[in-house]
Amino acid sequence: MAQAATNENLKLVQTFPIKGGDFASAGSVSIMVKKLLKGIGLPSQVLRRAAIAAFEAEMNVVMYGGEAGGEVRLYVSPTKIRVETQDHGPGIPNLELAMTEGWSTATHEMREMGFGAGMGLPNIKRNSDRLDIHTAIGGGTSVNVEIDICN
Ligand SMILES: Nc1ncnc2c1ncn2[C@@H]1O[C@H](COP(=O)(O)OP(=O)(O)O)[C@@H](O)[C@H]1O
Ligand SMILES: [Mg+2]
Repeated sequence: MAQAATNENLKLVQTFPIKGGDFASAGSVSIMVKKLLKGIGLPSQVLRRAAIAAFEAEMNVVMYGGEAGGEVRLYVSPTKIRVETQDHGPGIPNLELAMTEGWSTATHEMREMGFGAGMGLPNIKRNSDRLDIHTAIGGGTSVNVEIDICN
């Protein structure tokens, strides 16, 4: 009941498109998310956690989400932030494995750019109060994160 009541107050603030495979602009969405939340006047701890979760989810769409890319939707209520990231890529075959620290399918090129430590999904989990991931082979992936606003 309490969960449903707070969800009703969630308002979509903005939708940001993510370009697949575009490393030049990668990270720009999470910077915009952080700026926007800062403008609302949220506590720095909340900003930091939301920015980390948004960055890791955005990078995964750039790296693994396929050419079609995806989008980030940012929702805010008086009590929480919700960041929904969605792509139309190949999906994650084994989510449990993907959630394991250090596990990565990053290519040699991605690793040379400094990505592929396999810490993205574990970091998203660590920096969120609720995380749900929906993924299907050939059906894309959505990563939904909630961060409680506690002053
Ligand atoms: N959106 C996605 N679509 C398909 N596979 C993904 C997606 N996000 C993550 N993965 C898979 O999960 C693995 C672990 O992701 P992550 O913890 O962020 O580590 P990294 O990005 O360093 O590889 C990735 O290497 C990839 O195989
Ligand atoms: Mg990652």
